[in-house]
Amino acid sequence: MTEDKVVYHFPEGFLWGTSTSGPQSEGTELGDGKGQNNWDYWYSIEPERFHGEIGPERTSTFYKNFKKDIELLVETGHTVFRTSIQWSRLLPKGIGEVNQEAVTFYRSVFSLIKEKGIQLFVNLYHFDLPYALQEQGGWENKDIVWAYEAYARTCFELFDDLVDRWITFNEPIVPVECGYLGDYHYPCKVDAKAAVAVAYHTQLASSLAVKACHEVNPEKKIAIVLNLTPAYPRSEHPDDVKAAKIAELFQTKSFLDPSVLGEYPRDLVDLIEEYGLSPETSEEELAIIRENRVDFLGVNYYQPLRVQAPTKVWKEGEVLTPEHFFAPYDMPGKKINPHRGWEIYEKGIYDIAINIRDQYNNIEWLVTENGMGVEGEVAFRQDEVIQDDYRIEFIEDHLIELHRAIEEGANCKGYMLWTFIDCWSWLNAYKNRYGLVELDLETQERRIKKSGRWFKALSDANGFSR
Ligand code: GAL
Repeated sequence: MTEDKVVYHFPEGFLWGTSTSGPQSEGTELGDGKGQNNWDYWYSIEPERFHGEIGPERTSTFYKNFKKDIELLVETGHTVFRTSIQWSRLLPKGIGEVNQEAVTFYRSVFSLIKEKGIQLFVNLYHFDLPYALQEQGGWENKDIVWAYEAYARTCFELFDDLVDRWITFNEPIVPVECGYLGDYHYPCKVDAKAAVAVAYHTQLASSLAVKACHEVNPEKKIAIVLNLTPAYPRSEHPDDVKAAKIAELFQTKSFLDPSVLGEYPRDLVDLIEEYGLSPETSEEELAIIRENRVDFLGVNYYQPLRVQAPTKVWKEGEVLTPEHFFAPYDMPGKKINPHRGWEIYEKGIYDIAINIRDQYNNIEWLVTENGMGVEGEVAFRQDEVIQDDYRIEFIEDHLIELHRAIEEGANCKGYMLWTFIDCWSWLNAYKNRYGLVELDLETQERRIKKSGRWFKALSDANGFSR
């Protein structure tokens, strides 16, 4: 009964596409000149940590197949595409000599994307540090901000004519949490003081890249991509509310405030000072952060963060971890993606949009990641095609909430799904499939899934009805 359907039409010029990253899609080829990054190194010493022992050199072979893949971008209706440059590909040692093979590769990829009329967003850092810099202390060592600045400037100088918009970092809080407060990213330390220093140095590096971008081309827009997962308290009890507030300070405001507003929230500064974690800062550095704010924002959203009052009490001398401030809350009855175990909460995207509208000057933004990982997805293949109706429903449900926010004044200009082709996801390798296109790991064959055809129709119509 079509007359009962609601039409969700998006604003004129709304962008439709997907995101990926260099380290998760390119793969390594003999003679490509790529240097080792922290993932390559970690895999070389502990391959058993990676699902199926599949390492970063075996990502989706985009390096070799990019022409075919860019055709697939067209076939699946992309008007925008985000990928990242691998620092370790362009500058194999992190600083110094430029790898000319990389320049040729990225220029060919970017030119072809432009030729197809697809807008190109390029990120400079997606969790992938050149290992030579890791050996010098990585993000704990403040000198790295200048190495990053030089790398960013090199990218702007080499590729600015082909790139529509730049991005400084993807989800910078993730390497902080997973690498310095957990065991999921190299160097797998648990050290709160180091974590704070890493976060501060990353922010400073991001602000320096904003500055360099505008120096190279004052017209060019640059963003940071943040996972702005709202923190929802278990209850209205003041202890739960306090826990959620602290979770949000650590996980979202730590980069959102300095990047968009130019300064850190007072409550965050006080809190880290109270625990003796403050990094070394200078007036000059804080001025760089204040004066070089992003032009727009990328938002990644998968699932909400539900928290409750902490159960652990910190005692002097003990290793401080986030669990001393908030505990995860497993909400009974939550909607779940049974193929991945993550909660599905579509309204999160609406809440993020309204928060940006009301608290962050309604800055322009795009959804730069949202999507559904599915383990064992081959089980859904019928007549050669993955019938991923669950993914279509997931996207539609989120788009309905996004549409509602846009109607209420949210300044969102596009939606990028994670991701266009099944890709390598860090320690999970190829366990969970996210693509609009299926990748056969053995033959490297690419097959468009049902969602890929549907995405083309969505993009062509600039919306959908349901
Ligand atoms: C994000 C990350 C991506 C991808 C995705 C799905 O947090 O930016 O690189 O791995 O999760 O797992």
